[in-house]
Amino acid sequence: MLSSEPLNLDDFNRIVFFTGAGLSAESGIPTYRGAGGIWDQYDYREYACEAAFEADPEKVWEFHLKRRSFVRGCAPNQGHQLIADLAGSRPGVTVITQNIDGLHQRAGSAQVIELHGGLFRSRCPRDGKTIAAEVHDQLRCDCGTWLRPDIVWFGDSLDRAVIMAAMDAVESCDLLIAVGTSAMVYPAAGLPISARERGAYLVEINLEDTPLSGLYHRQLRGSASAMLAELLTAG
Ligand code: OAD
Repeated sequence: MLSSEPLNLDDFNRIVFFTGAGLSAESGIPTYRGAGGIWDQYDYREYACEAAFEADPEKVWEFHLKRRSFVRGCAPNQGHQLIADLAGSRPGVTVITQNIDGLHQRAGSAQVIELHGGLFRSRCPRDGKTIAAEVHDQLRCDCGTWLRPDIVWFGDSLDRAVIMAAMDAVESCDLLIAVGTSAMVYPAAGLPISARERGAYLVEINLEDTPLSGLYHRQLRGSASAMLAELLTAG
């Protein structure tokens, strides 16, 4: 169904927002796929996989430091804000994101399940320690090892505790709203499928159809912030 009538949120007890790069596009952060996307400009095999990091950590860091610096200059948009406001005003709202930009948190969402890690954290591959990089970019651990961005790169496994938390949330939700994701990357893309199998009502917000659009009860076509505003703002 193509409709952007407001939802009656009182009909739902547990709501999951499942977000992707399209939500941050209006903050000026390029998406990954499609013309002008990050993987159009950069070959992920050179910048976003373990083998590339092992071959040339400085080159991989240069790419990620550039991204950190760029994202520091971007601000959450109305879409992030609407989600944070809803999560702050009622219980039972979970944000699951594939984004690494931290914009949900900066908008005020307290509990965010980051499926693909965080751009502003680094991790020591030797001792597993993570270091926040909100201000300072430390590239080597105190133990001397190159830190790596705490991001799930191509070929990496998702953190088990993180994917389990996401599965718990989607299996117990009665409404899932997917925002700005191409549904191309698994296991993340499988989460709405699990929600649907458990009987949840599904809404997809995107500029265009995705391979999983047919799964959704409602497909809203337009920008993330405009569609969220129409969907969530009663009256
Ligand atoms: P993609 O770049 O694959 O897809 C972005 C989606 O957002 C597309 O379907 C667009 O049509 C849609 N879109 C773009 N602008 C929009 C807007 N203003 N409003 C609504 N929708 C819009 O991004 P993801 O699906 O998030 O992994 O990509 C999944 C993962 O692939 C990412 O987490 C990333 C990448 O490799 C890591 O960084 C580890």
